[in-house]
Amino acid sequence: MSQKRVLFSLVAILVIAATLLAACQPAATQQAATQPAASGEKLAVGIVLPTKDEPRWIQDETRFKEALSAAGYQVEILFSQGSSAKEKENVKALLTKGIKVLIICPQDGTAAAAAVEEARKAGVKVISYDRLIRDTDAVDYYVTFDSIAVGAQQAQYLVDNATGKGNPLYLYAGAASDNNAFIFFEGAWGVLQPKIADGTFVIKNSSEAVALQDKPKLTRDEMARIIGQVTTNWDFNTAKNLAEANLTATTAADKGTVYILAPNDGTARAIADAFAADKDVTKYYVTGQDAEKASVQYILDGKQSMTVFKDVRTLVKDAISAAVALLEGKAPAAKGSYNNGKIDVPAIQSPVVTVDKNNVKEALIDSGYYSASDFTGLQ
Ligand code: BGC
Repeated sequence: MSQKRVLFSLVAILVIAATLLAACQPAATQQAATQPAASGEKLAVGIVLPTKDEPRWIQDETRFKEALSAAGYQVEILFSQGSSAKEKENVKALLTKGIKVLIICPQDGTAAAAAVEEARKAGVKVISYDRLIRDTDAVDYYVTFDSIAVGAQQAQYLVDNATGKGNPLYLYAGAASDNNAFIFFEGAWGVLQPKIADGTFVIKNSSEAVALQDKPKLTRDEMARIIGQVTTNWDFNTAKNLAEANLTATTAADKGTVYILAPNDGTARAIADAFAADKDVTKYYVTGQDAEKASVQYILDGKQSMTVFKDVRTLVKDAISAAVALLEGKAPAAKGSYNNGKIDVPAIQSPVVTVDKNNVKEALIDSGYYSASDFTGLQ
């Protein structure tokens, strides 16, 4: 599609969204809405995001606000702050306000089922946003990135930078409560496993992964066993402590030039800091995802090797289009589906891009995603 057409479609979506969201009503305390609604007006769409404590979800908040306020309106966005109980309260609060569509990124994919079942009972359409809500039929649509590709691109980066045999490999994963952690790991394993089998890499920090290293494809339970050993829980401190513990448990012979599968940018920086501080680590390659500003700076500074850029503007646009379709009683355009353990959820997924120091300027600055003044050392 030409840039003009993309812009045109976006404007068209925003105009429709604006009309449908014209009744948005601000919540008293916790959200971003500032536009007062006339009494009796109902909030059409509510958004629930996992936490304000990770820059990734602030990116989503910002892009939602940009997309909706560009058309003159703001939307109500609530954060669950890492708590499924808070998430449920947020959903209830939005239901009380009369929302027709709920866009929700679950804190815990399985625990969120109860909250969206309440929404379903209230006649509200549910869009699972970025993370899939599991084991329920109360999900109408799933808007996501190509998460298999995220893991595959991370792994490919490590493969592309490895020569010879016996390279030390350290594996880390996301939270087991997040379906994406499995998909990222599955994508990475598909690329890494043949290179473990042929001796290019040697796993250093997971006996469960070593026990399964001859299997090209893992079941969910098998992945759960590995993730159980190498989870960061999507948390900076957990990641740092685990990396430090791994480095303490291994010897100098397990270090030198090392290869690290880190699941996202926050954990990549934590793990990178730990490896950088180990005197026996002479060089490390570490992956990431999200193109968080702090990690873009780490890449520019040579402290993180790559990130996987997921253009949140696309996800937001897809979510708004889906909400608009659902509000109009139509089925949103789907390209395939994801099984959530109970049903196949119709889905749309966006592509992702590998970014390292060679294309960081082109991918993130020249594209207008970030401004150059946010960083130092850009060439
Ligand atoms: C998202 C990532 C994010 C991670 C931690 C995943 O579900 O897809 O972008 O880094 O959660 O919040």
